Amino acid sequence: MSSAKHAVLFVCLGNICRSPTAHGVFETLLEQSSLAGQVHVDSAGTAAYHVGNPPDSRSIAKAKSLGYELSHLRARKVSQQDFHDFDLILAMDQENLENLMAIRPTGSKARVQLFLDFIPEQSYREVPDPYYGGDQGFQLVINLVESASQGLLEHLDAQLRAE
Ligand code: 4NP
Repeated sequence: MSSAKHAVLFVCLGNICRSPTAHGVFETLLEQSSLAGQVHVDSAGTAAYHVGNPPDSRSIAKAKSLGYELSHLRARKVSQQDFHDFDLILAMDQENLENLMAIRPTGSKARVQLFLDFIPEQSYREVPDPYYGGDQGFQLVINLVESASQGLLEHLDAQLRAE
């Protein structure tokens, strides 16, 4: 863990499509913002199918076309320690959220919620799983992730200013 004051963990099922996209996009936007260096960012999956693997090649390509690098990321499974290490754990969909709540240790500090709560007047509450679909699904993931990342940056900026 870095010494950053705040730590955000993005969580999906496999940690190869949605959460690494959120990880790479949010980290890039963060480092271009006034909050650079102040927030630690990571991602994980609720399932272990792809542990150790890089993101899906379709996610890497879609992100790269918009200037975001994901190829260095490697999948890992979410752990109980994450609920102590991160203050914000953001689930991509309702099922991920329920799985997180089921393993959440009592007394842990993390706030656990849906990532798309950070899009004002959202038309989507969840980031749909693109794994078994076509290009459109990967495009939708990145559009939703970019919007929610802006909202999350504004939220963290307000929080850091209030401290
Ligand atoms: P992700 O997508 O949860 O966005 O990483 C998936 C990746 C792999 C599988 C399901 C969803 N899978 O079943 O292997």
